[in-house]
Amino acid sequence: MRKKYLVVGTLVALVALVAACGGGTDDGSSSGGSSVAATATTAPAPTEKAAGLSNAALIEVGRKEFASCAGCHSADATGVPGLGKSLIKTEFIANISDADLAAFIKTGRPSSDPANTTGIDMPPKGGNPALNDEKIDGLVAYIRSLQ
Ligand code: HEC
Repeated sequence: MRKKYLVVGTLVALVALVAACGGGTDDGSSSGGSSVAATATTAPAPTEKAAGLSNAALIEVGRKEFASCAGCHSADATGVPGLGKSLIKTEFIANISDADLAAFIKTGRPSSDPANTTGIDMPPKGGNPALNDEKIDGLVAYIRSLQ
């Protein structure tokens, strides 16, 4: 007896399902199409860690990495007397390309360098060997955003 009700119930459910599917076929194809399109447009996520970070993403990388620089240049990059100069609106930064600024951060500027302006060392990578190219690109973008 119970089995019979189950079978009937299953049949009713199946009919309902088929009806639902059948009814949905028309707009099912169109909504299916648009959901594929939506997936395609959201695929290149801006948070992607791969190459080609947006400028905004690079600035965020640099903001984080600037902790390595803040000890001498201060957290707001205005400099610390006797340690590091201000990085805001300097002629040097205004006139240097992104690539050269990245190269500068990698090599620093020792006090023995004739170009040194303070007699104080700027250590290579600010003394943080963990800074890779992407992080340095982030620092360049961050410093630019402060000008
Ligand atoms: C140990 C201290 C110290 C640290 C850490 C440091 N700097 Fe420097 N930085 C200096 C000093 C000193 C100078 C100035 C050199 C000179 O006299 O020409 C300088 C100069 C600079 C300049 C050139 C500014 C100009 O107008 O000439 C830039 C750009 C710069 N630093 C970026 C950075 C970045 C980015 C970091 C972090 C990765 C960093 N520095 C970490 C000490 C430091």
